Amino acid sequence: MKTILVTGGAGFIGSNFVYYMLEKHPGWRVVCFDALTYAGNLETLEDAMKNEKFRFVKGDITDRKAVFSLFEEERFDFVVNFAAESHVDRSIEAPEIFLRTNILGTQVLLDACRKNNTRFHQVSTDEVYGDLPLDRPDLFFTEETPIHTSSPYSASKASADLLTMAYYRTYGLPVTISRCSNNYGPYHFPEKLIPLMIANALENKPLPVYGEGKNVRDWLYVRDHCKAIDMILENGRPGEVYNIGGHNERTNLEVVRTVLRILGKSEELIKFVKDRPGHDMRYAIDPTKIRNELGWYPETDFDTGIQKTVEWYLNNRSWWKNIISGDYVKYYERMYGKR
Ligand code: NAD
Ligand code: DAU
Repeated sequence: MKTILVTGGAGFIGSNFVYYMLEKHPGWRVVCFDALTYAGNLETLEDAMKNEKFRFVKGDITDRKAVFSLFEEERFDFVVNFAAESHVDRSIEAPEIFLRTNILGTQVLLDACRKNNTRFHQVSTDEVYGDLPLDRPDLFFTEETPIHTSSPYSASKASADLLTMAYYRTYGLPVTISRCSNNYGPYHFPEKLIPLMIANALENKPLPVYGEGKNVRDWLYVRDHCKAIDMILENGRPGEVYNIGGHNERTNLEVVRTVLRILGKSEELIKFVKDRPGHDMRYAIDPTKIRNELGWYPETDFDTGIQKTVEWYLNNRSWWKNIISGDYVKYYERMYGKR
């Protein structure tokens, strides 16, 4: 039996990972440590709470005392760090908390792992590589692509990656890093492109598309991401970075039109709005390393995944409606003022 600490497990990918691990490794204990910021939601973990192998602990990864005392209570075989401020637009408005959580919080976890010689996995992002030009479809991000960040969010994630590698080199801490492309699927917070478009379309509200909607993202169904991280924990080599992506590139406009088509809604709902400052043009992952070394491949293509995702939002209206009308807006306004 192993025990795994999942930080940020009440958010989108972390919660999907909690469910994936409870199902895939029924003998393992899964402990979730999450500050429940505006993006964390205990409702998401309701089913996990019924599983005796699961434990939820509310706490902030920047709180050294809380993190170290958790490590005294439990012995972890792995720590997987999903906890982060994750939304690029928010990082442009208010960078500070991104630096605090994403960099300093990661450092606290690394220190706790170092003290306990615990294997650490950092969940990173393809955004650390910057972007690719639209007119060079032959180019992809590999693990050797230089770090070249655009937003405060991606700069904070890249900093955390560098710190993680420094702990490997300097202290010999067993670490791995994964850099993933855009995820989508259940429990995706309705401020991100796909869930926001689904929610707005269902409420017949305008669908805000930045700029001309030509930016390209490489979409990955969240369960495929979870599978990749599990494989890295089991067989990944310490000190290595693994890119995760499934060659599902779409322009934003294509994604929005697909959502509208599935819902049977009019394209007149699309509203082109002011572009995001420093907006990355194209992300595209080369997943050769993880495929060749670990045998990982994505099981869900975009057409299947987006259909399943739209159906999930149709069947779970109260989940996203509670968020849209609820506390997260108040929480955010309290911290940063009205948007
Ligand atoms: P999310 O915003 O949905 O969830 C983040 C979770 O972290 C929330 O539950 C929140 O409460 C928690 N959290 C935030 N600050 C915390 C703190 N100081 N201490 C403890 N918990 C805290 O994010 P997500 O989309 O699920 O992303 C998870 C991770 O994956 C992030 O590290 C992100 O950078 C990375 N990532 C995301 C994507 C994507 O497409 N969403 C792609 C690649 C990488
Ligand atoms: O690539 C991985 C990254 O993907 C993760 O590291 C981030 O945590 C995650 O949020 C995501 O970042 P993006 O900026 O790519 O995701 P977002 O959903 O915010 O935007 C996707 C694209 O859609 C982007 O080109 C901006 C555009 N967009 C977004 C929103 C919210 C719009 O056109 N309109 C919108 O309202």
